[in-house]
Amino acid sequence: MSTDRSAVRPVPRHVAIVMDGNGRWASQRFMPRFVGHERGMETLLRVIDAFAERGVEYLTVFAFSSENWKRPEEEVSGIMGLVLVGVSKYLRKLATEGVRIRVVGDRSGVSPRLQAAWDEAERATAANTRIHLSVAFNYGGRWDIVQACRRAMAEGLAPEEIDEAALAARMALAFAPDPDLFIRTGGEMRVSNFLLWQTAYAELYFTDCLWPDFDAGEVDAALAAYARRDRRFGGVRAIEAVPQGT
Ligand code: IPE
Ligand code: IPE
Ligand code: MG
Repeated sequence: MSTDRSAVRPVPRHVAIVMDGNGRWASQRFMPRFVGHERGMETLLRVIDAFAERGVEYLTVFAFSSENWKRPEEEVSGIMGLVLVGVSKYLRKLATEGVRIRVVGDRSGVSPRLQAAWDEAERATAANTRIHLSVAFNYGGRWDIVQACRRAMAEGLAPEEIDEAALAARMALAFAPDPDLFIRTGGEMRVSNFLLWQTAYAELYFTDCLWPDFDAGEVDAALAAYARRDRRFGGVRAIEAVPQGT
């Protein structure tokens, strides 16, 4: 059965997701947290297509934060191994489905093998345009702001040349419009140092659904909630914007 995906408007151009709840999903099933991460990766593979089908152009997912190194060594190395295997297992599929992959975050902190896998994923999908998938890995919103400032200084910008546009052009997601919709699964209502700069005017959507359970129905629920939002960007509602003097 084909569904009319155009029914819910407007569709956000850019969706950012904090994919949270893998560990709890596994614990609820008396399984090791690693199994939750495994399932979480499979979930991501499924939902990329669901977002693309609904017209979302940019999808940015938080896969590993700059603070996640605080986790037990076993969990961290499990995640690193999972990502390495995941790239070799799914890259061809994503490449043929028109997904353009970028990895954003501090690459210097990850192993040379993983850096090489990221490079390969970016190279193999560089010509794709169906959906832009950005994987935030070893990423922190504060890191991003600091690295943009450092770049500006290294390029020799004078203090008076540093404005919002100058920094935005040097942020990790400079190629994308700002996220319209910020989704966090797993029930926590916090940002956890994700896209601090870029989400200044994003619509926030929190769901109790644990990330491994997130599916096309959850995508539709989030997009429907977004479509009902009244975005003002500090102004007034479009319907109330009556010209002065009338
Ligand atoms: C998110 O799930 C994945 C990563 C942070 C890598 P969690 O591992 O944080 O899962 P919970 O929040 O403990 O359930
Ligand atoms: C945010 O989730 C990071 C990712 C989903 C990759 P966390 O589980 O690390 O966030 P906190 O610790 O609950 O704030
Ligand atoms: Mg968590």
